[in-house]
Amino acid sequence: FHTIDDMKLNGKVVLTRVDLNVPVEDGRVTDATRIEKIVPTVKDIQAKGGIPVLLAHFDRPKGRRVDSMSLRQILPALEAALGQSVAFADDCIGGPAKHLVAELKPGDVALLENTRFHEGEERNDPTFAASMAALGGAYINDAFSAAHRAHASTEGLARLLPAGAGRLMEAELKALDAALGDPQRPVMAVVGGAKVSTKLDLLANLLEKVDHLVIGGGMANTFLVAKGIEVGTSLAEREMADTARAILAKAARDGCVIHLPLDIVVAREFKAGADSEVLPVDRCPVDAMILDAGPETVEALRAAMGQCRTLVWNGPLGAFEIEPFDRATNAAARAAADLTRAGRLVSVAGGGDTVAALNKAGVVGDFSFISTAGGAFLEWMEGKELPGVAALRV
Ligand code: 3PG
Repeated sequence: FHTIDDMKLNGKVVLTRVDLNVPVEDGRVTDATRIEKIVPTVKDIQAKGGIPVLLAHFDRPKGRRVDSMSLRQILPALEAALGQSVAFADDCIGGPAKHLVAELKPGDVALLENTRFHEGEERNDPTFAASMAALGGAYINDAFSAAHRAHASTEGLARLLPAGAGRLMEAELKALDAALGDPQRPVMAVVGGAKVSTKLDLLANLLEKVDHLVIGGGMANTFLVAKGIEVGTSLAEREMADTARAILAKAARDGCVIHLPLDIVVAREFKAGADSEVLPVDRCPVDAMILDAGPETVEALRAAMGQCRTLVWNGPLGAFEIEPFDRATNAAARAAADLTRAGRLVSVAGGGDTVAALNKAGVVGDFSFISTAGGAFLEWMEGKELPGVAALRV
């Protein structure tokens, strides 16, 4: 695909799709990571004489104007990140957008209102896309994290204007390729989360691509049930036991080593500071639930990780939001961080919960790459082609 480097942007209004879907509380941005990550793209477009006009969605207003979902509330954080004022239009098409764009000069940057205030955005309506396209002379997509949506501003526009990838999009694709496309082997994937049923595509794809697959969180319980191990009152999808057995059999055929908990941390209630104990994996009391993996599991994981050159991580190993059930996740995260710092591991992580867990473990800065994407990271790990990326291919 094209990038800012090989596109003619001089004097052009560059419609730049970014992801400003950031957490907001009482009208204030509480985590500006996604905003900070778009700065290189904005600056590089400006350096080439282009005028970035930012397009983004916020939340899920479902085609209606919802005041609490206005991108206006993101402006102060955006201006702080860019170190300049940002012009704003109340609509991403029509009069307000046209007037604003007509006033812009080189060096300026503008933001248009939430694209999802229009129904045409999620429908990828050609007329709506054409109204946005009419505002600019080129299109840059820097929203990898929204690229799993085939929407007008993520997919449609790429077909209507000279199109290319922004810096963050480039960096995401490069990191993901290093992790699963053409990785240094052996490769380990860590997959956690509550349910096996929502991660079947993911597991199937990973079995074929990785050498070690660590299964953690609630989904590990379903695998334990599949192996005939009782899990008490733990979260588990018993009806998925056959599926889990089929996955274990396929892993054995594919030569993929599956790592399940060897020991467990159990408690009678799911609350902070609840009384808990470490037990062998097959000793979960009938009235207790598994909330984390134990120290023996972490040791085995650390040893296997030490043999690997690449790590891709999605999903915590335990109920990390609640102490003390964050220990396995924290210890594994620190092991990955240490190996990465020592130059022995390429580590890539993504997904909302995962990044929150790594943040909590204090290791975000030590990973090789942390994706800004949630759903898009997962779909990419599932081996799916993301429509927003596909539309950029030339
Ligand atoms: C995200 O926050 O993961 C992206 O911005 C996509 O948002 P969506 O799930 O509402 O499409």
